[in-house]
Amino acid sequence: MPILLHILASPRGETSHSRRIGRALVSHLKDVVVVTRDLALQPLPHPDRDFVEASLMAESERGDRQKAALALSERLIAELEDADLIVIDTPMHNFTVPSVLKAWIDQVIRPHRTFRTSPEGKIGLLRNRPVFLVVCCGGSCADGGAAQSDFLTPYLRHALATIGLRDLSVLRLEGLNRGPAAVERADEQASAWIADQVRNWNARQR
Ligand SMILES: Cc1cc2nc3c(=O)[nH]c(=O)nc-3n(C[C@H](O)[C@H](O)[C@H](O)COP(=O)(O)O)c2cc1C
Repeated sequence: MPILLHILASPRGETSHSRRIGRALVSHLKDVVVVTRDLALQPLPHPDRDFVEASLMAESERGDRQKAALALSERLIAELEDADLIVIDTPMHNFTVPSVLKAWIDQVIRPHRTFRTSPEGKIGLLRNRPVFLVVCCGGSCADGGAAQSDFLTPYLRHALATIGLRDLSVLRLEGLNRGPAAVERADEQASAWIADQVRNWNARQR
């Protein structure tokens, strides 16, 4: 059975919009084994000196200390390698990813492990898989007026492509802090998007 890696990043537990919608998507994707990585419940460490030194060192030169420094990163990369599809649901925090999701990114994007460099730029070393991304924003990202810039979606698209995950489908829901009518509109948008993603996934599986 395909393995679905579900990555969650909202700190708001049951009141979280991104968790509610991510959960709805996951529940509609049938016949998958779900592996959950809850970055808010179990935050990951930021890269420390040992991690940085070990990740820049050739594998053959690493001693026990360096291997230990990369052990968690290896586990997180293995989760990615094992997955057949990935669902990431996340709030927008200060125009970009929440810091818990950034910590995950720092653990899984590693030179000579998940990407290599070339004169043409970085080349991803992971097999391409579908990634479904649900982004929830309190405000609006539409053009004009008081609208804000979305640094989250293009950043995550670029970061995931760096390691080879280029098949990204995005649902960005906006205005979620603007009352029940806005939440209702977002839920309708989410339902339609989920139906599309589930249809596409089922068609791939046939
Ligand atoms: C620390 C923090 C920073 C935030 N920054 C933004 C932001 O830059 N833009 C925005 O539209 N909403 C921002 N919000 C609002 C959240 O994106 C919004 O509440 C969203 O629903 C959160 O998703 P969740 O319900 O899954 O937690 C921020 C919220 C917090 C707690």
